[in-house]
Amino acid sequence: MLTFMKILHFFGLMLGAAGGMGGMMVAIQAKRSDGAPPQGLLALRPRFTLITLIGVVLLWLTGLWMWLVQYDGALMSTAFVLKLLAAGFILVVAVLGFVAVKRASPGTPPPAYLQKLGPLAGLASYLAVALAVYVFA
Ligand code: HEM
Repeated sequence: MLTFMKILHFFGLMLGAAGGMGGMMVAIQAKRSDGAPPQGLLALRPRFTLITLIGVVLLWLTGLWMWLVQYDGALMSTAFVLKLLAAGFILVVAVLGFVAVKRASPGTPPPAYLQKLGPLAGLASYLAVALAVYVFA
């Protein structure tokens, strides 16, 4: 079962990374356009925020399962606690991004705070992967 959960954990990682990268590319391209960005480009925004959210939720569900069932919820080490903090931050940003894009009227750019938090969540995901490998290698 741990192996299965770990495979799903990595699927979550792939989805989260794909959604995050895609969303970043859309943001860059939208900023580059003269005048209003093309509709086809903007239509990708909610798709990428949904893919990111599904990936992050999958990481959390499988991560919580592995942590509670396999490791009895032990804090293990500072590196693991830092990984959880990074994962918590990523989850908050993924939810905020999903909600903001869902609520935004078509064509409006994402709120300024998200344009700052998005890249930070990207950095946090590199940190979470590095810490996970360090802790579980
Ligand atoms: C959201 C961002 C997350 C990322 C990027 C991430 C990434 C990873 C990676 C790359 C591994 C494999 C490490 C290795 O085998 O060398 C791993 C394993 C693990 N993760 Fe996560 N994870 C995340 C969230 C979580 C959460 C929220 C939890 C727990 C609440 C969690 C619990 C675990 C556990 C217990 C393992 C070890 C499984 C094992 O091999 O025994 N992860 N994670």
